[in-house]
Amino acid sequence: MCGIVGIVGTAPVADRLVDALRRLEYRGYDSAGVATIHDGVMDRRRAEGKLLNLEKRLEADPLPGTTGIAHTRWATHGVPNETNAHPHFVEGVAVVHNGIIENFSELREELKAEGRVFSSQTDTEVVAHLLANYVRDGLDPRAAMLKMLNRVTGAYALAVMFQNDPGTLMAARSGPPLAVGHGKGEMFLGSDAIALAPFTNEITYLVDGDCAIVTHSGATILDYSGKEVNRPRQISHATAYVVDKGNHRHFMEKEIYEQPEVISHALSHYVDFASHRVHPGVSAIDFGKVSGLAISACGTAYLAGLIGKYWFERYARLPVEIDVASEFRYREMPLSPSQAALFISQSGETADTLASLRYCRDNGLKIGAVVNVRESTIARESDAVFPIMAGPEIGVASTKAFTCQLAVLASLAIGAGVARGTISAKDEKELVHHLVEMPRIMAQVLNIIQPQMESLSREISKYKDVLYLGRGTSFPLAMEGALKLKEISYIHAEGYAAGELKHGPIALIDENMPVIVIAPHDRFFDKTVSNMQEVAARGGRIIFITDAAGAAASTLPTMATIILPVVDEIIAPIIFSLPIQLLAYHTAVFMGTDVDQPRNLAKSVTVE
Ligand code: F6R
Repeated sequence: MCGIVGIVGTAPVADRLVDALRRLEYRGYDSAGVATIHDGVMDRRRAEGKLLNLEKRLEADPLPGTTGIAHTRWATHGVPNETNAHPHFVEGVAVVHNGIIENFSELREELKAEGRVFSSQTDTEVVAHLLANYVRDGLDPRAAMLKMLNRVTGAYALAVMFQNDPGTLMAARSGPPLAVGHGKGEMFLGSDAIALAPFTNEITYLVDGDCAIVTHSGATILDYSGKEVNRPRQISHATAYVVDKGNHRHFMEKEIYEQPEVISHALSHYVDFASHRVHPGVSAIDFGKVSGLAISACGTAYLAGLIGKYWFERYARLPVEIDVASEFRYREMPLSPSQAALFISQSGETADTLASLRYCRDNGLKIGAVVNVRESTIARESDAVFPIMAGPEIGVASTKAFTCQLAVLASLAIGAGVARGTISAKDEKELVHHLVEMPRIMAQVLNIIQPQMESLSREISKYKDVLYLGRGTSFPLAMEGALKLKEISYIHAEGYAAGELKHGPIALIDENMPVIVIAPHDRFFDKTVSNMQEVAARGGRIIFITDAAGAAASTLPTMATIILPVVDEIIAPIIFSLPIQLLAYHTAVFMGTDVDQPRNLAKSVTVE
């Protein structure tokens, strides 16, 4: 979603602002803009589309100035064009905004009635007009900012620049994240620590209801009544990582191939590689004492949670209630303080997941966060944080975060089983042994299947629809396969429980819709093969993703058979993720889509 940066600098800022925007590109956007103050005058450049277009504008017509703000916009109100791109200027006030101003139509009507003329279709412009009104009424920028913040409602992060106060930026947060970066004689604003990584690793995260006044000498943080509040300064982990593609064509490809390494790193936090035991005390949640688990998340993170449900129920005999966060938050489900809740989120900022977390917290549940960004809002609002340690995930389509989420959930489920006495010490050792072996198997699989997945992707790209089937943990994986394919190649795909085939989707089967069957040779295998028979009998074309034992046991004709090593059920969903990721990736590359930033998608979904 939208990205915000700001610099109160001692040297020209335009190039650095664009550089910081580039580091926010992964969030998804469709236009961009930058504004600076130079010799007491504000000016801006904006462009539809990619940052390259904005850079061309700046090259042709540079923007001097040592204070500035910049923005990547993911359109909500108004089409993605230059007029709607931020910063919005009204009478010496410049505003960039991430989120939604919920009472914007009411404010817009009120401002129009006062004779104000709007130049864009955005909700953001009301903020600029309100501020301009208050400055015209004689308020100083700080008073104008506080008054405006008491008028607008909704979810927003804002950065504001006043022409009559160069050398100061104002910012506010109510929902989407915003951080202040502390430099030497220079200060920064950014949507996340990744954006600010080249400038500083000293970060103060604003919390909801904070208004920051940022100058060369530091930041003062106020609540909306104007009372000063203290927020801690932290050292960010984001600077430890270099955000580049290395030798890969896309971040997604790099992130797929990074998985053996990052999973190994993640696992070392949860299990002992030598003794094959789960690290004791790794969890602030006592899974031994809870009566049940509620899990909520969105998209790929939700699908990781669904696989987690199978593990917690099987290994720890812990009942799990799970739903997508956009439903969970409004279902008003009865919850008990004897339950614990887990929220899974790569970014740690997803609005619906955060709202579900708050619902559970208000009901007295102990809250755990399975997150990649350890400084995120979801992490900060949780009792226990379970980092997935995947490193920054830049490709919009989640790959390494998904498998690291699974590795963490598997470790937690084993730990819960030990705590609840539902698995023996021998079982624990055996299960952890499989987890420890996993990174090596992943590296091997990635090497072996790459050429086959690449050539298969050429076939897949000829079709308009694809069906994925699986049973047990392969069912959520089927949904993840379909999600991955549709989001980056734009081919329509659905994931179904194989047993549901004859309850409807079988009507779609013909030679024009490949059916990808995910079936390790596990306890569900024979049943899944029966479903494959039903597909074959109707002329369906099957792509069979199985293991060596499964390939040997089935004689059905297939369009392709992808053979993986035989692995234990606990690691199968992670190993079987690899072919579905590579298939989606190569299909998208072959079709020439924007793999890392697919159309209409955002990496960090900070609005409902
Ligand atoms: C799909 C994908 C999304 C995210 C979802 C939740 O590849 O990445 O479905 O999983 O938007 O995002 P987080 O995990 O940041 O809460």
